[in-house]
Amino acid sequence: MRTASGPTQPGSAMRPRGVRRIPAPFLVLMLVALAGCEQLDPMISQQKVKPYRESEFWPDRISMRPPQPGTVAREDVIAQAVATGRGPDGAVLTRAPLPITRQLLETGRKRFEINCAVCHGYLADGVSLVARNMSLRPPPSLLARAGQPDGWYFQVISEGFGVMPSYASALPVEERWAIVAYLRALQLSQSARLEELPPAERARLEREGR
Ligand code: HEC
Repeated sequence: MRTASGPTQPGSAMRPRGVRRIPAPFLVLMLVALAGCEQLDPMISQQKVKPYRESEFWPDRISMRPPQPGTVAREDVIAQAVATGRGPDGAVLTRAPLPITRQLLETGRKRFEINCAVCHGYLADGVSLVARNMSLRPPPSLLARAGQPDGWYFQVISEGFGVMPSYASALPVEERWAIVAYLRALQLSQSARLEELPPAERARLEREGR
């Protein structure tokens, strides 16, 4: 370390009077303290505008700029049918407009069990604590409505239905379709015939005697 009074050697007998060596533990402590010093972090000390702070750069002094007219968010580029659940003629879609994969069904199961099962029951049969205690209009079984087109379910989730609120802010469109697909699986599971099952599943069910 250099001092104003000239170079010194560690342990040198020629160290000028009045200049004391800083003890090592204290040095370490100082380094640790400096490491947390925000002014030394170039990311923090760089010139920038902060949200809600006044800006000297813009004539209107507002730092948060509105997007340019016509700006489209990356996640907004979704096919019309997927985003609205309606075809070009405005009618609700009979079938979901995206490929039904196992992964989509798994997402649907998770989202349904988080967002819907609490009221409509895990089997969508309307059996839930909420349904038992809700006097105004208990959440109905969704199995009875199997005849409705896929787009209708999408609309109900997106826009709400009677006293049921919209889930548009909680569920991105793909997750809403995932729920519709899983609802179809639940409906199918509650009215499937034994001979419709794959042989392995059929054998298992017969063994279990269900
Ligand atoms: C807070 C409880 C609650 C939750 C959570 C809920 N619903 Fe509902 N849902 C209801 C009620 C109550 C109705 C009946 C509303 C009415 O008729 O006014 C309903 C109606 C429906 C209907 C129309 C059923 C019919 O037979 O008319 C569908 C479809 C539906 N919900 C699907 C869903 C899906 C999918 C979810 C999850 C994204 C969900 N609901 C979450 C309470 C709920």
